[in-house]
Amino acid sequence: MSRLICASAELPDGGDGLRFMVDTANGAQAAFVLRWRGEVFAYLNQCAHVALELDWNPGKFLDADGEFLICAAHGALYQPDSGVCVSGPCRGKSLPRLAVSEQNGNIYLEAQT
Ligand code: FES
Repeated sequence: MSRLICASAELPDGGDGLRFMVDTANGAQAAFVLRWRGEVFAYLNQCAHVALELDWNPGKFLDADGEFLICAAHGALYQPDSGVCVSGPCRGKSLPRLAVSEQNGNIYLEAQT
């Protein structure tokens, strides 16, 4: 069972991400989806350092160079395609990844296992 998140056109490559809510075993949690180097990735919007949301303005998840996801609080940098923290206080930890797919011009959240 998948859930429509947005239209593909709403996620320009290397542009703003889109925030949404996802139901988890711990209740509703903030999440985001973005397109990076042509592929779509989604994660819980919760830093691995302290459970704060990453974006410094709604939808602003990438650093100035568009190379990494950056946490607004203390600057942790995450690989956009894996969610692994490569710099900052939570180096080596990861953002929880969510399964998404792109079909017929839309982005879908897949059932989480
Ligand atoms: S809360 Fe994200 S780096 Fe500290």
